[in-house]
Amino acid sequence: MSIRLPLVVGNWKLNGDRELLTSMVARLKQFDADKVETVICPPYVYLNEDTDGVKKGAQSVSTQDAGAFTGEVAGRMLRDVGCHYVIVGHSERRELFGESDEVVAAKVKATLDAGLIPIICVGETDEERENNQTTERVTQQVKAVLDELPSYSDSLVFAYEPVWAIGTGKTASCEQAEEVHAMIRQVLAGYNQELAETTRILYGGSVKPENSKELFASDNIDGGLIGGASLDVESFATICENAVA
Ligand code: PGA
Repeated sequence: MSIRLPLVVGNWKLNGDRELLTSMVARLKQFDADKVETVICPPYVYLNEDTDGVKKGAQSVSTQDAGAFTGEVAGRMLRDVGCHYVIVGHSERRELFGESDEVVAAKVKATLDAGLIPIICVGETDEERENNQTTERVTQQVKAVLDELPSYSDSLVFAYEPVWAIGTGKTASCEQAEEVHAMIRQVLAGYNQELAETTRILYGGSVKPENSKELFASDNIDGGLIGGASLDVESFATICENAVA
């Protein structure tokens, strides 16, 4: 790792409660923010809780800012309750809620417009990997976002999450992950060299305390997006520790 401050994000999905948030915050407060940035993304209803300086992120956001959109939450509201980040384009949103590359791009724009940082998830399915379409699919997902941005914001985070590794216990090997991360950085360089050098690219998909150190040691892996292991305070803290610069 390098000039890019390591970032570890816990994606709770539809899990957790207020008690877990309280104990997680107490533990994450112990980290030196200059050495690792830690972020918790609980379900929306917990985002209003005071997390005592520990950064919060939402798991999604509306493309809209206000109006008759029942069930939606706008970026400005997330900002209002003290969020810093928004996970956009998670494969579960893409698959289960039909979010296309176009919707993902619109959500990235809505996030940036609200002054928040999007964590943009990209990754191939099992079938795409088997058909040697990983580079093509991931490049397409990254470009779908960057092509829609008026300028290349320095507040973007990407997360490479191979769909076949999410919640399955199958992690990409360090070599597999590093190869895709380096490729994403190359795509970013095609837009802007500084963007390529400063953008943090996280790895996600069955990251655990046991495999995190090795993954984070790779040149182009700047931290992790953690699902299952972010629901256990000590497991998540160990992963954060393993990312310390
Ligand atoms: P997992 O989930 O760590 O449980 O595989 C990662 C994610 O979905 O972001």
